[in-house]
Amino acid sequence: MFEIRQRDGLARVCRMVTAHGTVDTPALLPVINPNRPLISPREMKSTFGAQAIITNSYIIWRTPGLREAALSKGVHSLADFDGTVMTDSGTFQSYMYGRVEVGAKEIVEFQRSVRTDIGTILDIFTEPAATRDDVASAIEETIKRGAEAIPGKGEMLLAGTVQGGVYADLREDCARRMSDMAFDIHPIGGVVPLMEGYRYADLVDVVIASKKGLRPSRPVHLFGAGHPMLFPLAALMGCDLFDSSSYAKYAADGRILTPAGTLRVNELAEMPCACPVCSRHSAKEMAESQRLMAEHNLHISFTELRRVREAIRGGHLWELVEERARAHPSLIEALRRLATHSEYLERFEPLSRASALFYTGPETIQRPTVKRVRARLRERALPFVNKPLVVLPEVEKPYSRHHIETIEKIWKAADARIAVAGYFGLVPIELDEVYPISQSIIPQQTDLETQADAEREIRGEASAIDPAMPVFWDWQEEMTGLREGYPAKGAPDRDVGRVRAVADYQFGAGAGGALTRGAVAIVKSKRTGRIRNAMLDGKHVLSMRAHDGFFTLKPAGATVLHAALKAPRMRVVVAEDAVPFVKAGKNLFAKFALSCDPELRPGDEALLVDSSDKLLGLGQVLLVSGEIGAFERGVAVSARDGIP
Ligand code: GUN
Ligand code: ZN
Repeated sequence: MFEIRQRDGLARVCRMVTAHGTVDTPALLPVINPNRPLISPREMKSTFGAQAIITNSYIIWRTPGLREAALSKGVHSLADFDGTVMTDSGTFQSYMYGRVEVGAKEIVEFQRSVRTDIGTILDIFTEPAATRDDVASAIEETIKRGAEAIPGKGEMLLAGTVQGGVYADLREDCARRMSDMAFDIHPIGGVVPLMEGYRYADLVDVVIASKKGLRPSRPVHLFGAGHPMLFPLAALMGCDLFDSSSYAKYAADGRILTPAGTLRVNELAEMPCACPVCSRHSAKEMAESQRLMAEHNLHISFTELRRVREAIRGGHLWELVEERARAHPSLIEALRRLATHSEYLERFEPLSRASALFYTGPETIQRPTVKRVRARLRERALPFVNKPLVVLPEVEKPYSRHHIETIEKIWKAADARIAVAGYFGLVPIELDEVYPISQSIIPQQTDLETQADAEREIRGEASAIDPAMPVFWDWQEEMTGLREGYPAKGAPDRDVGRVRAVADYQFGAGAGGALTRGAVAIVKSKRTGRIRNAMLDGKHVLSMRAHDGFFTLKPAGATVLHAALKAPRMRVVVAEDAVPFVKAGKNLFAKFALSCDPELRPGDEALLVDSSDKLLGLGQVLLVSGEIGAFERGVAVSARDGIP
């Protein structure tokens, strides 16, 4: 039903299959008022490309003409829409007006009777101001209603809403319990007041808490999120579906949506927009027509979602989110709140991206990618500095190329290791080409917060080095001390040093030693002089990728690491049924992956083993721990080689 195509962190481009076609997510479902649609569902598809709409089953149920029509010819005919139709249940009406006449079971059965593709339970809306006790009992009632609704869902997909007010632990618990039931989709509910009040930082806590409890293989819908300004951030947090009546509500109020905020049209002298509507109409014409404003709002909203999907595919969603955060101070606050969740986010953070990391401001340094580099330097690189360390200032990238003369001079004189102190921390020169150290664009002059943070990090990392190894911060001043105290012992083998350092950084401490224990031969590119392949005792063990500086593992390298690293490190365990396929070099599908090393990240190289830890093959991880076992469709590990 739901399959990941591309991902970037918690964000994902997926294909959701329903009885009326597929929906490419993240997707916007425009809200259709069953009584008086401002823009018809047919146009939603033909003009705006909507693959799905959402309408309200409770309004249909309580309106005699609509109810009979829906029951006799189905909700698709009623709406005149042949794509995916989702229906809501009356929860919001119950919240707004205190009660609804319909029963919880009855409204789900009604949704099935009108043959909606995705129905919704009658959950209890928990508002941000509610007390903990009230929220807790509302959750119990929501779960009870959910459990009662499931047996009657039939072929219809059913949405089980996560509630929990602003209590993160209740949200996570509710999400977990909802995930244990046979729902197909999980909306995050009760968030409209947060969005209306620009409480985006609280929204971040609510969404992340919900995501932690939810089964990752089910689409997540953010109920009532309709301002395009919020789409990139919500997608980054792993929301797949949005619904909105904002396009119509704002238009009714004379306002238009932009990705950077909201504008009152009667205050505009001209339209600052290139959409097909604004291109053909003056600001005055726009201000006079609710319909034109709504059309503009839809164009902008659908365009922003296309931009979000492209950003996920291209690996630059973080940049888009940071850029959009400039639109509203509440979004900056939300981004900073997101940084408090980076330990969780890092678990889904890809090893590398197709595009370089762009600095956009002081929030950039808070990204999980930066935190990961620093953690790995502290854990996998700096504790193993076994010589005095000379620290050089950051220059252009890659560091080793731009510092070449200095490096030659130091290595001629002294037996030392060299690191560069920069934005990411204290980077051993051997690691200067791994993502994102080389693949990042950061101005010389950043900002005070970033500078202070980097300096603090460099000092902290320096203290991770063995105290017996002195650190030289000014090589020119200290050259004599270096030369006399630690005289050179012949040129160090820089290439082997690089292979070892990158392997430790990529695969974990100990990997570099194992992959270079024996006769090592390095093949370099004639054109660039960079390492291409590493051979150990005549066997090809590793290839270095030009685009991210990491290794691709070869079968002989996998065999070495399998012997050197204890299970579960780097392992993905393959179900019996899939063993022959993996041995033959076929992809490992999610269904056949039993478990994996919790340290594996998207893009990592993995050892594929059977239940008794026999090596069967190797590949590149697409799904991580927690996702493996949950997804029923799609590839978990993309195969590189089988080991027959
Ligand atoms: N629409 C906006 N918020 C909600 C919610 O929390 N639950 C449901 N079912 N619909 C909503
Ligand atoms: Zn426009």
